[in-house]
Amino acid sequence: MKNILHRGLSVIMLSLGVCAAVYAQSKASIIVDADQGEVQISRHIYGHFSEHLGHCIYGGFYVGENSPIPNTKGVRNDVVEALKNIQIPNLRWPGGCFADEYHWRDGIGPKADRPKMINTHWGGVTEDNSFGTHDFLDMCELIGTEPYICGNVGSGTVEEMSKWVEYMTFDGESPMSKLRSENGREKPWKVQFLAVGNESWGCGGNMTPEAYADNYRRYQTFCRNYGNNQLLKVAGGANVDDYRWTEVIMQKVPASMMWGLSLHYYTHPGGWDNKGSATQFSTRQYAETMKRCLYMDELVTRHDAIMTKYDPEKRVALVVDEWGSWYDVEPGTNPGFLFQQNTMRDALIAASTLNIFHKHADRVRMANIAQIINVLQAVIFTDGDKMLLTPTYHIFDMYKIHQDATLLPSTVRSEKYKVDEFEMDQINASASVDKDGVIHVSVANLDLNKSVEVSVDIRGTKVKGIQNVQLLTSDKIGDFNSFDNPNKIQLADGSKKCKLKDGILTISMPAKSVVTVAVK
Ligand code: AHR
Repeated sequence: MKNILHRGLSVIMLSLGVCAAVYAQSKASIIVDADQGEVQISRHIYGHFSEHLGHCIYGGFYVGENSPIPNTKGVRNDVVEALKNIQIPNLRWPGGCFADEYHWRDGIGPKADRPKMINTHWGGVTEDNSFGTHDFLDMCELIGTEPYICGNVGSGTVEEMSKWVEYMTFDGESPMSKLRSENGREKPWKVQFLAVGNESWGCGGNMTPEAYADNYRRYQTFCRNYGNNQLLKVAGGANVDDYRWTEVIMQKVPASMMWGLSLHYYTHPGGWDNKGSATQFSTRQYAETMKRCLYMDELVTRHDAIMTKYDPEKRVALVVDEWGSWYDVEPGTNPGFLFQQNTMRDALIAASTLNIFHKHADRVRMANIAQIINVLQAVIFTDGDKMLLTPTYHIFDMYKIHQDATLLPSTVRSEKYKVDEFEMDQINASASVDKDGVIHVSVANLDLNKSVEVSVDIRGTKVKGIQNVQLLTSDKIGDFNSFDNPNKIQLADGSKKCKLKDGILTISMPAKSVVTVAVK
């Protein structure tokens, strides 16, 4: 009996010991080679996406000039200010799937005369075209961001796309520039980024890669560079791991005809058919989500390898122009509007994905999180005259210092975070140096329980001091900002969590947190 009791006690103590280990602090290390930077992290990796979908455009950006909500030409001032703060470098529009049904001429001229259409993809709602080309391009100027126009290949014509480019960018006398002037804009806009179709393998026309490659070559031929406006044309790329798509496009379209080739990948916790709730999820679902998020690394690596076969100089950019989390819509909301909450889990997805893009900065030179306001992994929510910033917004705020900085090669070592069969590195990180010589190190700790002490050895330079430390974390991984509690998750000063001694930076990171440290 005594023996049994003793053995029982040992088992309990062993279990307690295991628990203690689970909740203890772990250690990780990062070596940053500060004198080895070669590649620039394009600011365009920090791009966003706005589609005529749910309340992204209407209610999100656009409330109309007569709205009591403070606005400039119908665009909410609060949203413009928030987006200026995170320095969004480019904004994709008008879709997504919507783009391949959009006819730009329906969105110009007096608003009352604009034809209506059905938004067949997104809730079957009536689109009144009150937000069109002028509204979008003027809004981009207001925000200080570059427009990324997605042209209609699926149901549009070569002529339609060609005329749209002429309408937006021709600085001379022509039928389209005359029409633009008549509609109130004399000078052309600057439009660099042009996507030739969207998801042409699916909602954009269900094409084979061979058919799309031929179409791409034809459509892009008639999208001209007028005056100083040099188009950077993006060919529609693969869905997730459709490597054959990338292979065929790279084979059939010369680099001289495309600036970029796109890739779309969304993180669904349990796959497309099992997306789950944005806020109610188990530890296992969390781990599966993060594992799927980190899969972006493999996708980018493998698509890049195929591209490199045809384009060893890496002239063609990989443009991940749709990425982010995609869950079930919030209960009681229109299933076609794709509205989902945004938690600390999403902040970790954003930080980890941006770290992956940094790592591949020589090939990934543009990306667009989906979607900017009120849709999927949004950075902003609006509700009537109210607006809030999501945890994902705060990551874009923290990480904006990496825009156009030089990537510093980093070697990251950490323990594994493991839940059931889902195993991953506890931390992921990236580092860059900006034009003023400030080094920024960003680290995400994915472990839900363990804090981690990260020692960062910055080699090849003499670091004198810590300039700034920003921290994002929350009590629970499912925490989110709501209109009742809009600042539940917000950036905090993390300077107490950092030390610099003998050139080694030590960061004490709480479980489920993201930190960015600036040193010089
Ligand atoms: O972002 C939502 C939709 O996802 C886009 O319209 C489409 O391109 C993708 O399938």
